[in-house]
Amino acid sequence: MRDAETATVRLSEYTPPAYLIDEVALVISLEPEATLVAARSHVRRTGDTPAPLVLNGERLELQSIAIDGTLLTTDKYQLEPGKLIILDPPVQFRLDIVTRISPATNTHLEGLYMSAGRFCTQCEAEGFRAITYMLDRPDVLARYAVRIEADKAAYPTLLSNGNMTESGDMEGDRHFAVWVDPHPKPSYLFALCAGEYESIHDTFVTKSGRIVALGIYVDPGDSERARYAMDSLKRAMKWDEEAFQREYDLDLFNIVAVRDFNFGAMENKGLNIFNSSLILADAETATDADFEAIEAVVGHEYFHNWTGNRITCRDWFQLCLKEGLTVYREQEFSADQRSRPVQRIKDVKRLRARQFGEDAGPLAHPVRPSSYQKIDNFYTATVYEKGGEVIRMLKRLIGADAFARGMQLYFERRDGTASTVEDFIACFEEASGQDLSGFMNWYDQAGTPALTARGSYDDEARTYCLTVSQLTQPTPGQTEKNSLPIPLHIGLIATDGARLRTTVEGESAPREEHALVLSDARTTFNFANVEAPPIPAILRHFSAPVTLNDGLTIEQRLSQMAHDPDPFTRWEAGQSIARAIMLSGADMHASALAAALGRELDRAQEDPAFAALALRMPDLSELILAAPMPDPEALFGARETLRREVATELRARLEAIARAKGDASFSPDAGAAGLRALKSAALDLLASLGEEAGDVFEIAFATAANMTEAVAALEALGASGSPAFD
Ligand code: PHE
Ligand code: ZN
Repeated sequence: MRDAETATVRLSEYTPPAYLIDEVALVISLEPEATLVAARSHVRRTGDTPAPLVLNGERLELQSIAIDGTLLTTDKYQLEPGKLIILDPPVQFRLDIVTRISPATNTHLEGLYMSAGRFCTQCEAEGFRAITYMLDRPDVLARYAVRIEADKAAYPTLLSNGNMTESGDMEGDRHFAVWVDPHPKPSYLFALCAGEYESIHDTFVTKSGRIVALGIYVDPGDSERARYAMDSLKRAMKWDEEAFQREYDLDLFNIVAVRDFNFGAMENKGLNIFNSSLILADAETATDADFEAIEAVVGHEYFHNWTGNRITCRDWFQLCLKEGLTVYREQEFSADQRSRPVQRIKDVKRLRARQFGEDAGPLAHPVRPSSYQKIDNFYTATVYEKGGEVIRMLKRLIGADAFARGMQLYFERRDGTASTVEDFIACFEEASGQDLSGFMNWYDQAGTPALTARGSYDDEARTYCLTVSQLTQPTPGQTEKNSLPIPLHIGLIATDGARLRTTVEGESAPREEHALVLSDARTTFNFANVEAPPIPAILRHFSAPVTLNDGLTIEQRLSQMAHDPDPFTRWEAGQSIARAIMLSGADMHASALAAALGRELDRAQEDPAFAALALRMPDLSELILAAPMPDPEALFGARETLRREVATELRARLEAIARAKGDASFSPDAGAAGLRALKSAALDLLASLGEEAGDVFEIAFATAANMTEAVAALEALGASGSPAFD
């Protein structure tokens, strides 16, 4: 490895660029093994004193450099690994650089490369420097105009960012297209695609009346399978107008699906590039989970148009500024399209499965890291998922109204800039009038806070004291931890399920749910007017990304399952009971758990997807993590035993659900998917009965009308140990 790649980059050492580039005109003449890139940049120095211009470049074959039309001789510049240094440039000048690259042999999936005979690009984070020499950093924003030239027969479609202003034929079977993006952008948002595609088209009219032409480009033969992605895109555009007052800002929005792609998708301005697995779906080849993922990722990339593109990051340490915020927006979109509680529970499961482990292991890092060697390694669950949780907490801490005002202030004030987390938070300090300096610890401190909560009830005074403490364990490189401001949404119910309306110091009226904040290492909250011994739900809606030891008994959790108004709390209570039973082998509560799950089945028609989640027991990997001395075989056995007991008690109802015939005509919408999820969960539980379950799986498989049902039936058949599986 070269030095340039191993040097540590530090947030504290950020310096503004010595030069800026306002305009870039590219002429890209495509040839698989010898593409010529002519880049004309308008460059100006930012400081008062002369300085060399240091451009980034990787794997480029330099053909020529000229300043204001005069070719540079070799004594006027230096080529170093990863760099082109122009030694003594004027204050302001026109820079012409011609380079040659070989997309066909580029196997990095970065820069300009080929996938299935088509050209495509990937520039985030530092891929543009493999296309031409550039100030390849997100705080250099330029307007791009791109002329693409290529063989007309082999590459009939030529796409880039912005709007197409011109196209036509050239000599020798070639043609060209000119794309102009009026919005200044960092180089990482540049994109180019060229090849033979099949496409579908639609239009979207923005709230101020702009007509946007939408296109999705896929492999020939695949276009019908892009319909759901198109539908998701239109819903995302509408949603951003309603939820965040964000309108689209070009006449075109294109998506290209690519088979060879490193990540899920990429938000290039006006030309999103997707891994085709996140575009293509139909009833026969995709499950509901695939449809859900398409909707979420199409939304995510579209939402980046404002949170990422219009307002971008000053440097890569600020990655969460665009990713955490966009994850939050994507999750809210999905919650509004589907069941909000189910979305929340799925997001929490994902956070716990992917991010909590990161926080607890050797790679723990803050949402905003302070140093890196390769930024590519920081596209993590911490930056994305915990970054999203941090935004959600901000909203809880300052309230929905101040949050909405802060977002609008951010969009107005920071539009067109490369910003920092501080710039973002400043908007919310202003909108809320609160000092958020303590909140910054959520960005800069790694680790998952562990909360412990214990309460005591005073029968006579009708008061309840709840003491909550927080502790964050040291993480590599960060031994001292500060206390964090942790939003707690607390509700009290009585054993019989009555929702207790109580008052907490500082609140004017009694409430069923309190939005409180734990700011210190330890705080006692005093509740008054508590009419019965309470069962506290301390983290309703999973109000913060923490672990919680609340010391509740299984009986108390059973009451929560039956009565807590918050679905997340009900789900969490069921999971804790199941986990406790499986870990201790104490199954005297199994039939109470079955009864509680039975009540979820009774009200399943309200939200079948929620009932489906409730029926799913914690999986083996979760048990292994929770056990002090894990014995996987014993844990597997305990899990099956509990599942069998629950299935036996609920058998009649589970069978009725499992045998119900699904709709012959398939709709991927949330309502239909929820019913299928419930049926899948019922089949899964019944599988624990083994042979005893009879022919229910075979019938479910034989009558499956779509991929979701077929996969669920097949999995259950396999899990039941039936010989029919073979
Ligand atoms: N910015 C992309 C997203 O989150 C992820 C990505 C990063 C894709 C780097 C490719 C390369 O939407
Ligand atoms: Zn993103």
